[in-house]
Amino acid sequence: MSISTPPIRAYEKLLGLKRNPFKTLSIISPEEASALFVKQEGDGLLLAMVAETIAGSGSAFIALTGPKGSGRTHRLMVIEDSIERAGGKVLYFDVAMASGPDILDRLIKTAMSLSAGIAVKIKRGLLGYTETIPEEELEEIRSSPVKIGDIILDALEKHRPAAILLDGLHNAIQMGEYWRFIFFEAIREIVSSMPEGIVVAMAMSNGTYEKIDESFPALSSRLHHRFLMHPLTNEEALMLVERRVRAYQVHRSAQMPIEEEVVVRANELIEGNPRRLLKLLSRAVDLTVLLGKRMVDMEVLGSMLKVDEPKFEYVKKAVDKYKDELFVLVDEFDGGPAELEAIAEAMEAIPSEERVKLEAMVIAGLIEKDSAGRYYVPPDRFLKEREEKEELTKPKWKLRFRRRKIR
Ligand SMILES: Nc1ncnc2c1ncn2[C@@H]1O[C@H](COP(=O)(O)OP(=O)(O)OP(=O)(O)O)[C@@H](O)[C@H]1O
Ligand SMILES: [Mg+2]
Repeated sequence: MSISTPPIRAYEKLLGLKRNPFKTLSIISPEEASALFVKQEGDGLLLAMVAETIAGSGSAFIALTGPKGSGRTHRLMVIEDSIERAGGKVLYFDVAMASGPDILDRLIKTAMSLSAGIAVKIKRGLLGYTETIPEEELEEIRSSPVKIGDIILDALEKHRPAAILLDGLHNAIQMGEYWRFIFFEAIREIVSSMPEGIVVAMAMSNGTYEKIDESFPALSSRLHHRFLMHPLTNEEALMLVERRVRAYQVHRSAQMPIEEEVVVRANELIEGNPRRLLKLLSRAVDLTVLLGKRMVDMEVLGSMLKVDEPKFEYVKKAVDKYKDELFVLVDEFDGGPAELEAIAEAMEAIPSEERVKLEAMVIAGLIEKDSAGRYYVPPDRFLKEREEKEELTKPKWKLRFRRRKIR
């Protein structure tokens, strides 16, 4: 069900909000990430490790692993904020899809700009030459993990507390073997010789982690900790919603314009994935405003779910190993048909490996393939599921938004 975006004033008039608080596109600065952050299992340890590093009593090499939309980038930003608040510097690097040499060049140049940011004790010749670095020199650095590692470490050491935050690591896995080796060796160089006061954090899917662990055991064995992303509990979902609503409320002490039951029902339907929760609630807010209502209530959610619920319920019944694919097909591609490459990209997977999985799902009868080789969930699957489904059961939960003290 597609919902058009209402005029911005309507949010304020009806819901007392400056904008739709769940739209994630315009997000967000590191400070905002901290302000909106809901701590989940493991985050106490994560923040303690960062704090220790900032205090100078240690360093940290960590991996944040979990599915898309589970909060990996958000956590990197929380780390960034902690370090910047302490007067340190952060090198955030999204590996992004590009060729091996391009990725390494960008990494080298980013590190050099950070290094050049300080005026004292800069390596001779380094200052200001990030844009004009001669090709032969770049080529020489690019082919040496030790040199790349040195440049990055040099930049970080001078700005301690400092961090290098590597996001989107699945793209590094997909570079050719040679460049992949240089990239991960360079990281190994950094973590092997980094002094106190430095955080090296890598964010990736669980599948990417397994691959790195398999191909670069000398790197993964140096990890101080691997943090797994967990689904939001209903309490956490309520907290996440309350933080966002409060951030965009015109009057901070006003009533919450969304029913708790809506949040809990939505969170259960999408199995606690923050990105999917925000997406569903964002549409519910838009629909509320379009209907001219003053509360995002179960009636609004119910009318949205007439279409969506059978799809999500279908996904939820599938075995765990195929759930991510089904969620992506249903949620991002509206059931499909979708091309292999597009699904692989959404899954952060290598197309040839993703194909094996999708074919297995076809054989298992979960999805089908059209004549152009695209994969889809046949719409009648949802209908069948729906007929089997009983009436919405009454919620068993007893949760409330935590009222924050208004200062
Ligand atoms: N613990 C949390 N507290 C508050 N907001 C969160 C939390 N986890 C995730 N979010 C929000 O959920 C959305 C998805 O999170 P994020 O972008 O960090 O996911 P991701 O794992 O990096 O996925 P992708 O790489 O696909 O974007 C973001 O809008 C983020 O702000
Ligand atoms: Mg991310």
